Amino acid sequence: MAGRFGGAFGRVLQRRGSSSAPSLDLTHNIILYVEGVTVSFDGFRALNDLSLYVAPGELRCIIGPNGAGKTTMMDVITGKTRPDTGSVWFGQTLDLLTLGEPEIAQAGIGRKFQKPTVFSEHSVFENLELAMAGDKSVWKMLFARLTPEQLTRIDEVLETIGLKDHRSARAGSLSHGQKQWLEIGMLLMQDPALLLVDEPVAGMTPQETERTAELLTSLAGKHSVVVVEHDMNFVRSIARTVTVLHQGSVLAEGTIDEVQNDPKVIEVYLGEPRC
Ligand SMILES: Nc1ncnc2c1ncn2[C@@H]1O[C@H](COP(=O)(O)OP(=O)(O)O)[C@@H](O)[C@H]1O
Ligand SMILES: [Mg+2]
Repeated sequence: MAGRFGGAFGRVLQRRGSSSAPSLDLTHNIILYVEGVTVSFDGFRALNDLSLYVAPGELRCIIGPNGAGKTTMMDVITGKTRPDTGSVWFGQTLDLLTLGEPEIAQAGIGRKFQKPTVFSEHSVFENLELAMAGDKSVWKMLFARLTPEQLTRIDEVLETIGLKDHRSARAGSLSHGQKQWLEIGMLLMQDPALLLVDEPVAGMTPQETERTAELLTSLAGKHSVVVVEHDMNFVRSIARTVTVLHQGSVLAEGTIDEVQNDPKVIEVYLGEPRC
């Protein structure tokens, strides 16, 4: 795989119009570069010279046995963990290793953790409204009048996440699956260019799992989506390119059929009774 192209010198964070988000340069058709990343915890290498590249609009699945380094990889991309070596770039110009967690989110990387963290006492609509506030005061946001554009945006997101008929429902009353979709919707309110989603279908019913596959598929194209998941049927239903991690490195990459038939993968991952 080719390395990162483009000027290595004099990169400057540019400002996009009135927005405070730095601009994203996709001229080489790669939105995320993870190159030669190593992370050690007390001498143990959770990531070991990991490299992977994600294209704009791509839906990428990351699989791998427990402890393979999947969550650590997301921690590195989002600035939660700093690698010992390697580089991580968002497009051509944003060196994520120089940015803090809030700046990385602001630059357009949204992360969905496994456990939904919605505001239970607020309605679905209010949750989306609060998510739009970003770093503004929550209370100011709730009592401010929404602009027509903001209302339209909330409606669009309600449609996307399939919760239009539940807009007034208390978030705490939603099913587990609906809460997960609401949280994805909250991320979408910030319109991230890249969405990282850790094990989205854990604990979901088969119907919810199917709906989640449709939702994530519908987001690809407009957003790049990186999904970490164990459920192979789910991966099969959404993935175009699958990356298999093992011991902190890429073991295999390709279509689901390619990786499922790869002897190395069968040995370390798919051969396991249950992951
Ligand atoms: N903060 C930490 N301190 C020590 N070891 C860690 C820490 N975070 C992760 N690890 C170890 O790094 C390895 C990779 O973990 P993780 O990224 O959570 O794997 P995965 O998400 O693929 O299951 C595991 O062996 C885990 O125990
Ligand atoms: Mg994990």
